[in-house]
Amino acid sequence: MSKPQKIGILTAGGDCPGLNAAIRGVGKTAIVEYGMEVLGFNAGYSGLINCDYIELKESQLSGILTIGGTILGTSREKPYKLVAKDGGENHKPEKIIETYDKLGLDCVVCIGGNGTMKTANLISKEGLNVIGIPKTIDNDVWGTEVTFGFDSAVQIATDAIDRLHTTANSHQRVMIIEIMGHNAGWLTLYSGLAGGGDIILLPELKHNIRSICKKIEERYEGNKPYSIVVVAEGIKHPKGTSAASYIGKAIQSYTDIETRETVLGYIQRGGSPTPMDRILATRYGAHAAKSIAEGKFGTMVALKNNKLINVPLEDVGGKLRLVEPDLGLIIKARKMGVSFGDEYL
Ligand code: F6P
Repeated sequence: MSKPQKIGILTAGGDCPGLNAAIRGVGKTAIVEYGMEVLGFNAGYSGLINCDYIELKESQLSGILTIGGTILGTSREKPYKLVAKDGGENHKPEKIIETYDKLGLDCVVCIGGNGTMKTANLISKEGLNVIGIPKTIDNDVWGTEVTFGFDSAVQIATDAIDRLHTTANSHQRVMIIEIMGHNAGWLTLYSGLAGGGDIILLPELKHNIRSICKKIEERYEGNKPYSIVVVAEGIKHPKGTSAASYIGKAIQSYTDIETRETVLGYIQRGGSPTPMDRILATRYGAHAAKSIAEGKFGTMVALKNNKLINVPLEDVGGKLRLVEPDLGLIIKARKMGVSFGDEYL
């Protein structure tokens, strides 16, 4: 194949801090180092389907490193998912190929989480050149040790937990804080430990209310009449209520100690990336551009032992990297008296 000359970039799935740093990392390296032309597709895979794009010149990539969100916009468009109202026929994949050919692209860089990588793999199977870059505050992309967006979200959630400590102490209450993460508890675990949470509830571990209340009562009797419970939004709980509200009500009714709930929500995904995320996103972006120049298509850039590598997209698509119950960090935390709500199962 001749030298890649024209590439497209898109950001898909839920946004997170560091997306612009990654766009900048890919774009600047592609333009400055390899002399490529760079296009940016608007709103994730929708831009690729509808041939909706902007040209990204080097000057447009300046001044975006520190900005949250994504200058390209994003969406949860899943081009391979058949929607009933389309009348049973899905023409989106062929529209993607049409856009790719019409624009004369040599590669598309897809920046996103698990869903994005799954689609990137399917597009790659159609014969298009694709490189993936892993991002998400959930840190659950299979094949890499860390995704950008995670460090920023840990920082935001930890700051919130720190603030809850003082008000919990003043009022002698149990404060429950709900952290994002439907399937993976990485963000809850890291912010919970960094913020000194007393009880940390993860989707990967089975909790039990008796165990949670026992810990709270022990603290109460030990002259610690307040507690912080850090709960992932994805723990098993009844439909129609939040995880925080379910846990808060259960604690109050069993212990008679006053509870208050905070659902941190989208604040966790907003704002400027931390320096660590800026660097990680820049490293991933620059490595993606190098991977294009070297023809390493059908791969996702990843980190292993802090070294940049490429993993096949077909190994990544459709998998989740979850917290293992016997993770060293969990074992150490238990030995320090942190409860994971599963002690008396
Ligand atoms: O994937 C990141 C994430 O923030 C999850 O933690 C959260 O559950 C989900 O996205 C919510 O996304 P949205 O409401 O944007 O679809």
